[in-house]
Amino acid sequence: MTTTRGLEGVVATTSSVSSIIDDTLTYAGYNIDDLAENASFEEVVYLLWHRKLPTKDQLAEIKKELAENAEIPQEVVDHFKSYDLKSVHPMAALRTAVSLLGLFDSEADVMDPEANYRKAIRLQAKLPTIVSAFARIRKGLEPIKPKSDASLAANFLYTLTGEEPSSVAVEAFNKALVLHADHELNASTFTARVCVATLSDVYSGVTAAIGALKGPLHGGANEAVMKMLKEIGDVDNVESYVHEKFARKEKIMGFGHRVYRQGDPRAKHLKEMSEKLTNLTGEPKWFEISTKIEEVVTSEKSIPPNVDFYSASMYHSLGIDHDLFTPIFAVSRVSGWLAHILEQYENNRLIRPRADYTGPDMQKYVPIEQRG
Ligand code: CMC
Repeated sequence: MTTTRGLEGVVATTSSVSSIIDDTLTYAGYNIDDLAENASFEEVVYLLWHRKLPTKDQLAEIKKELAENAEIPQEVVDHFKSYDLKSVHPMAALRTAVSLLGLFDSEADVMDPEANYRKAIRLQAKLPTIVSAFARIRKGLEPIKPKSDASLAANFLYTLTGEEPSSVAVEAFNKALVLHADHELNASTFTARVCVATLSDVYSGVTAAIGALKGPLHGGANEAVMKMLKEIGDVDNVESYVHEKFARKEKIMGFGHRVYRQGDPRAKHLKEMSEKLTNLTGEPKWFEISTKIEEVVTSEKSIPPNVDFYSASMYHSLGIDHDLFTPIFAVSRVSGWLAHILEQYENNRLIRPRADYTGPDMQKYVPIEQRG
């Protein structure tokens, strides 16, 4: 048996949802650059789930369905109020809340395609509300009811802060959602597909995916990037900070990628937004520190930044708590997870690879009294 560490280069399935070919990312055939400049997140959700852009009527329909399903059960709110949220990471809270949500969906275990699509709508609609409710409850504030006529991007910012977001903030946040929506067979999407390939339910698949996204080598990197920017504190400290990291053989968060070689095509859009927003908020230092880190890391290691690098300073500029960065990634990526989950059900086969055994040779059971 040959083993491939981390399954690098292994093609584990076919998929028509998204592709990474020659460092170009497409969603159902549309270049991410094109979508980032032009599409609303709701259009992208439709695209990922149907592999075609919606007509006006189809877009209006999916927006209506998302708006109608955005409220979360009172039980989820009560659950958040029932423990000390100060010691709970929002990704852990989100993971538990999605699992809990499944208990209040009478269709949770109904496996026909129509029921699974309805659950996809519910999950996509409710994830932003869960994240903003958690963020408010832990500050002693009441959750805010989502509006029925706002975009998902605008509604998230509104339910988070209770204030009408600026058009610049909505535009930037919408773009960030578009850029994070899907990414071929990344670790959390693979996790979701492995889970539902046992014919487990959609809630289990999304719960499992949230667990995988939480780690700092995946979605957790965006929060870790902001931590690093704060630790560095000043552009003059960048070189010594990066050199010390290299000397300790530690990774610089927000850099590197398993698939991209020349660079992550999403990073340039986030870099542009980070520059614009950090200037608008009067805190250009976060962008300056970031570009200096990029300069040092790329010149010395040729490792380009990934999607998580500039999203950190960009989200910070939108006034978002740093530990909400990864839950926001989930608010967007759930669209991709759901597209892959529905695709997996359409043509399912159990995903069950092998392991090359490296443990002890064949042993004979020894009664406990005779063990040395
Ligand atoms: N900083 C410094 N060195 C790095 C980095 C980095 N961020 N990333 C990779 N390397 C080096 C690594 O040390 C190794 O060097 P050597 O061959 O000398 O031992 C080489 O590059 C290959 O690294 P690897 O860890 O074997 O590569 P991988 O394909 O297994 O990991 C990765 C990919 C993204 C996990 C990794 O680049 C990493 O840990 N980056 C930092 C965390 C991060 O930003 N994660 C977000 C990933 S992209 C979006 C997402 O999924 O959320």
